[in-house]
Amino acid sequence: MLDSINADFTSSFWGLYVAGLVTISLLVCVLILVLNMTSRETGAPQVQAHTWDETLQEYNNPLPKWWLYLFWGTLVFAVVYLAVFPGYGTANDDRGARAEYAKETEKFQQVFDKYAKVDVAALAQQPEAVATGKRLFLTYCIQCHGSNAKGSPGFPDLTDNDWLYGGEADTVKTSILEGRAGVMNAFGAVLSGDEIKDVANYVRSLSGLSADAARVQRGEAVFAANCTVCHGPDGKGAASMGAAFAALGAPNLTDNVWLYGNSEAKIIEGVTRGRNFDNRSLKNAMPAWGEFLGEGKVTLLAAYVHSLSQKK
Ligand code: HEC
Ligand code: HEC
Repeated sequence: MLDSINADFTSSFWGLYVAGLVTISLLVCVLILVLNMTSRETGAPQVQAHTWDETLQEYNNPLPKWWLYLFWGTLVFAVVYLAVFPGYGTANDDRGARAEYAKETEKFQQVFDKYAKVDVAALAQQPEAVATGKRLFLTYCIQCHGSNAKGSPGFPDLTDNDWLYGGEADTVKTSILEGRAGVMNAFGAVLSGDEIKDVANYVRSLSGLSADAARVQRGEAVFAANCTVCHGPDGKGAASMGAAFAALGAPNLTDNVWLYGNSEAKIIEGVTRGRNFDNRSLKNAMPAWGEFLGEGKVTLLAAYVHSLSQKK
């Protein structure tokens, strides 16, 4: 653990840099103090040259002794403190804030590790585990899925019991652990503009939305020839074709639940350009969390997500 944190510092440069700065600061303080250790001169007190507001003047007395000694004291304290609680550029010491942080994280990691192999569905019944999962969700997941987990265009709603990859507790866990990236190829170069409009109308009709009857009829054939491989023969999505296909992530097109919107224009856009098709940037991909969070936290997250669509 310590090694992995200190690995951020690949050379001793920063350690030396900090040590140098600390040394210089301390020496400057000493210098200022020494220069101010003048003793009080006898006779009438000297007055500074400047005068404000016509009469306001300032004595030129040395610093009070008690103040000076206090300052020397803080310098001594600083040196002792730096030695005892390593702050003197010692990144690799096993004491100090860095090590303390490592110990804390390790302690927490052990708390979470307990959950790594616990059954997700069973865990979803335990309010405390679900509450912990929710806190993790609020930390790691809301930027894409929203604080209420209801998603936004391109980012699925996790509360509606409608799943791209299947909603079994273990499948949800796999989605989080390994990440997901459903890709739909672009048909802009394969189909004519009319064919795309036809199939878009057919897709809308599958969810009972208004559509042009003649286009729906023609679109059904286009769909059968181009789309069923991923979306299934009846358009009910990859997960409806069994576990072997679920990983394709092609959504159910018959349930009026939409990732990108149900307007004819949105559907035409998706079919023409594809979704996540420019492989350089998987814009709407679900990152894999297993390595970053560890399986324990992922299991708690899965329990929370699973619980969202269970209570009805
Ligand atoms: C960078 C954005 C992003 C973040 C952060 C993110 N997700 Fe996702 N998530 C997505 C996208 C996009 C998808 C849909 C993937 C696809 O379309 O193939 C998805 C899909 C999922 C699915 C599968 C849904 C289904 O219908 O099968 C689950 C479960 C999920 N996310 C949970 C989480 C959890 C839990 C977290 C926090 C640890 C999280 N996500 C963080 C973008 C994100
Ligand atoms: C290679 C598999 C594949 C093929 C072939 C395919 N799709 Fe898709 N489709 C997907 C995936 C995966 C998604 C989800 C993309 C995402 O997660 O960002 C999707 C998304 C969609 C959406 C968006 C759904 C929503 O909820 O907003 C529509 C509409 C759609 N496809 C229609 C079609 C049509 C029509 C065809 C045939 C012309 C087709 N698809 C062919 C895999 C495919």
